[in-house]
Amino acid sequence: MEPAPSAPEPVTAPAPQPRRCVCPGSYDPITLGHLDVIRRAAALYDEVVVAVLYNQSKQGMFSPAERLELIRHECAELPNVRAIEFHGRLLVDVCQELGIAAIVKGLRGETDYSYELPMAVMNRHLTGVETLFLPGDPAYTQVSSSLIKEVARFGGNIKGLVGPRVAEALAAKLA
Ligand code: PNS
Repeated sequence: MEPAPSAPEPVTAPAPQPRRCVCPGSYDPITLGHLDVIRRAAALYDEVVVAVLYNQSKQGMFSPAERLELIRHECAELPNVRAIEFHGRLLVDVCQELGIAAIVKGLRGETDYSYELPMAVMNRHLTGVETLFLPGDPAYTQVSSSLIKEVARFGGNIKGLVGPRVAEALAAKLA
């Protein structure tokens, strides 16, 4: 008598991996230009890690904890965004540790492109981590953290360029 055919092996599909990206920067402090890029990245990826580089040899206005607090406040309505801080290591090493294959950055214009392109090529050379550029919203092409700090320092109007909490934090620092 023929042996009964054995049941076929169940086919198990591999569990889908969440698609993650990192939005790195100094964020000293976060501006509405940064927030626009983070929001758009959050619509494209399952999870966005905002990675704050704190350069210990370059005194910023805000401490890492203050930058993170402001980012978390600004991104409170984006459930798939989280913020971390790093220093003294390569961004691509942070990406590899977190299993992230893509860096997302905004480009306000040619100057940003010239600054960003060598880093993007180097990061890909080092680990294969790719960089994706989003064109900056024209509403924020003039907005950078350093310009915001300078304008705020001399009493200029930064309304509509940073969130109200960030404006308050700047005013408190400069008081
Ligand atoms: O907001 P910034 O200052 O323009 O951000 C620059 C940043 C933090 C993205 C870049 O300096 C960086 O990735 N630094 C981490 C150290 C590193 O990986 N350096 C090699 C870059 S190829």
